[in-house]
Amino acid sequence: MKYVVTGGAGFIGSHITKKLVERGDVVTVIDNMNTGKEKNLESVIDKISFVKGDVLDTELLESITKDVDGVFHQAALASVQDSFDEPDEYHNVNVNGTENILKLSKKYGFKVVYASSSSVYGNPIRIPIKESDEKNPINPYAETKLKKEGLAIEYSKMGVSVIGLRYFNVFGKGQSKEYAGVLKLFLERIRDKLPPKINGDGMQFRDFVHVNDVVNANLMSMDSDITHEFFNVGTNTTITIIDLAKTIIGYSGLNIEPIFGPALDGDVHQTKANIDLIKKKIGWEPSIMLVDWIKNIVSSKKFNEI
Ligand SMILES: NC(=O)c1ccc[n+]([C@@H]2O[C@H](COP(=O)([O-])OP(=O)(O)OC[C@H]3O[C@@H](n4cnc5c(N)ncnc54)[C@H](O)[C@@H]3O)[C@@H](O)[C@H]2O)c1
Repeated sequence: MKYVVTGGAGFIGSHITKKLVERGDVVTVIDNMNTGKEKNLESVIDKISFVKGDVLDTELLESITKDVDGVFHQAALASVQDSFDEPDEYHNVNVNGTENILKLSKKYGFKVVYASSSSVYGNPIRIPIKESDEKNPINPYAETKLKKEGLAIEYSKMGVSVIGLRYFNVFGKGQSKEYAGVLKLFLERIRDKLPPKINGDGMQFRDFVHVNDVVNANLMSMDSDITHEFFNVGTNTTITIIDLAKTIIGYSGLNIEPIFGPALDGDVHQTKANIDLIKKKIGWEPSIMLVDWIKNIVSSKKFNEI
């Protein structure tokens, strides 16, 4: 099959690209290299078409998508903190960029699986969070993700096949600073034998999902005969930030304690996914658990794998 991965040089997009290549699909990546990295695609660069370009360039997008079976749309501006300073730019790339793809999908009939985010829920009214629960974004980034969902609903009514995956905190090799940033930062501090630095009281908790599982959720959604849905992509397990710090310290064998700083603006207090819907509809479930991954990285000092 033939696919386009937008944002394919980024953290999640590059893992999707590599998996598609591994299973023999034909892949074109479009990425403007805003946060994308060449090294993310190094191992497959001879086996894909790489287009350095922008999802806001509609002519370019049309030229690479008109004969594909599907688009995995990962390209976005993804920093909660930056979205407060540049809300218009965030709207432009995230919302208009997504609409460009949906318009082309309507014209050419390909399926779209795209990256939504658990941030659409804001501070949840109940835990674990179900897909149908209230959406209450608390920062401009999350607002763009909710607007994209509005577009997905609108275009699905016009016959477009579009599935939105609400990723929780994605971790794994090459993880971005956002979302699982706390994990990356803690591990880098431990590598340098420094105490992890916690923003706020550390009692906030998160649902961390491994990037390989996120890749599978993308592929299984694309391969399924479901035409329109939003799925939570998490693990239905959580860890508090203070326990995360203590777990990492524990496996490191260092005699240190975490240190504390002020809480961040726009940071949600707790996330935990209810994943019954995605299990039931496409048979997806997570296979890699955070603590096992941390143990492997920290106790064997594989800090080049973060
Ligand atoms: N990492 C997570 O935990 C997480 C959680 C929820 C949602 N998401 C979403 O998943 C997607 C991928 O996130 P990621 O963590 O891989 O981030 P990332 O920053 O590593 O990847 C985003 C990619 O998009 C590219 N890009 C940005 N603007 C572009 C544009 N205008 N045209 C073309 N390419 C552009 C960047 O260069 C980058 O390669 C994003 O949509 C993000 O909002 C990520």
